[in-house]
Parts: sequence; C-alpha cells; structure tokens
Amino acid sequence: MSQQANVVLEAKNLQLCYDAAVILPDMNLSIHTGQITALVGTNGSGKSTLLKAFARLLKPDQGNVYLDGRAIATLSSSEVARRMAILPQSPDVPSSLTVHELVEQGRYPHAGPLKMLRKQDHAAIDRALALTGMSDYRNRLLDSLSGGERQRAWIALALAQSTSVLLLDEPTTYLDIRHQLEIMELVQRLNHEEGMTVIIVLHDLNQAAQLADRMIVLQQGRVAGDGRPETVMTASMLETVFGIHARVVEDPEGGRPYFIPLSVARDPKATGL
Ligand SMILES: Nc1ncnc2c1ncn2[C@@H]1O[C@H](COP(=O)(O)OP(=O)(O)OP(=O)(O)O)[C@@H](O)[C@H]1O
Ligand SMILES: [Mg+2]
Repeated sequence: MSQQANVVLEAKNLQLCYDAAVILPDMNLSIHTGQITALVGTNGSGKSTLLKAFARLLKPDQGNVYLDGRAIATLSSSEVARRMAILPQSPDVPSSLTVHELVEQGRYPHAGPLKMLRKQDHAAIDRALALTGMSDYRNRLLDSLSGGERQRAWIALALAQSTSVLLLDEPTTYLDIRHQLEIMELVQRLNHEEGMTVIIVLHDLNQAAQLADRMIVLQQGRVAGDGRPETVMTASMLETVFGIHARVVEDPEGGRPYFIPLSVARDPKATGL
C-alpha cells in the first residue's frame, strides 16, 4: 500500500482563527489508517481546534481537510458520520434524554429515510453500552448521572456510530483511575481487533506514551514534536513545551517511556526572565 493510500485524514495548509486570533496558523498533517495517534500539548495549544477541524465542526479560514483523499467540505454529513465519530471535549448535555436515547442518535447516519431503527441498529447500541459498561444505565436520565458516567455515555454514542475512525477529545476526563484504564484498554482493543484509526487528545502524557503509535505535540498551534513516543517524550521536550523538569525512564515491560515530574521550569510562554 502506498503511503498516500494509507492516509485517512489530512490537513493541508490548514488555518483556523477565532475572530482575529489565529489558533492554527498553517497545519500540515497526515493521519495514518489503523494507528492510534495521541495529540498532546498545553492548555490552549489548539488540540480541540484541530480535532474539530478534522471532524468538520469548524470551517477552515484557509486550507483544507481531506477524508480518504476527498475534500471533507464536499462530503455529505451522513457520509462523514458513517466514517468518523467524535467525542468533543465538552459535549452539550441534551436535557431530559436517557442514556439509550442519546446513544441511539449514533445510529441516525445509518438509518433509512424514516429514521426507523433496525435490528442491526439495536445490536450496535447494545454493544456500545456494553463496551462502556453503561448497559445498566440505559434508562437513566443524563441529568442524573455522575460526571464519569455521563462521559461514558458520550463515548457509547461515538461507538454506536460504528465508524472506523474515532476522534476522542480527553475521553478520560472525570473518570476514576480504573475507568480511565478501561477506556485506554477499550481504545487499544478497538484498534487491534477492528483496525480502528484513533486520534485521542490526552493530558496524561504517560497514558499517551503507553497507548499511542504516534505522539503529536502541539505548541501554540504548531507541531513541536511528532513520532514514536520514545522519540517524542524526552526531558528536553517536557521542558521546552510543558515547562517542567522531569526524568524520563523506560518501562522495563513494554519499553515505552514514562516520566516522573521533578519541578517546575521556566514558563515556556514567558518572555524575558
Ligand atoms: N470559541 C472560541 N472563541 C474564541 N477563542 C477560542 C474559542 N475556542 C477556543 N479558543 C481559543 O483558541 C485557543 C486554542 O483552544 P483549544 O480549545 O483548541 O485548546 P486545547 O489545546 O484544546 O486546550 P485544552 O487543553 O485546555 O483543552 C485557546 O487560546 C482558546 O482560548
Ligand atoms: Mg481542548
């Protein structure tokens, strides 16, 4: 397979602005089929903006996003939704929906003109609820759930869409450590067993290094690091991008890097001092 055929999503000269502020000045990035790509960076570095642009939730000021080599702006909404699901960072909570009603929405891109759910739709909903440990919560109102349970309901919605590309913006926010690990293992399983392509925004750099085939570091809307976790997660990157002194060691089991934070270094955004 050629390198090009292997590219599922591509940003070409992508520029995104909010009002006068340029957030992503000129992004060029190819995402490869079947990989787990972790997107990391400090608060405000542009991770969510990039993810939303990939999912066509934001319109570029310049440049384009390509999905399977086709300009994403030219595709129909259901074409995009059958290929790619996104868990946004702060999804709007639709009031008074049950978990099942939320997750059901993931099937609409697959449903016929009358939006009638068929056998395969119910099977996909049941599977998504089971994978996220939410089967017992299906009749609960979203309003009544804890932060972590609600987060898992949103992940179930993305999974019910049965796409082969999944974009996750901080999916482990609000989750206790066991549920965080469950989500990490789920992502790994979907990737290994079903070849799912995943782009995942994570703040826990150790989790990102454990999980990802490729780590992309964003700094002020530009790529400041890109490659295998062991080449990207270095003490020097942690200092220049995240402003911390850290010791990076290798996990003797899997060979992945992990870091131990030592102290705060100079604020990378600060000038002067
Ligand atoms: N709707 C908006 N209007 C104006 N500015 C925005 C808007 N959304 C984001 N920004 C700004 O764009 C920049 C990038 O935001 P973005 O949400 O992409 O960052 P992020 O890397 O996802 O950060 P975090 O780790 O905090 O989620 C920030 O400076 C933010 O203040
Ligand atoms: Mg964000």
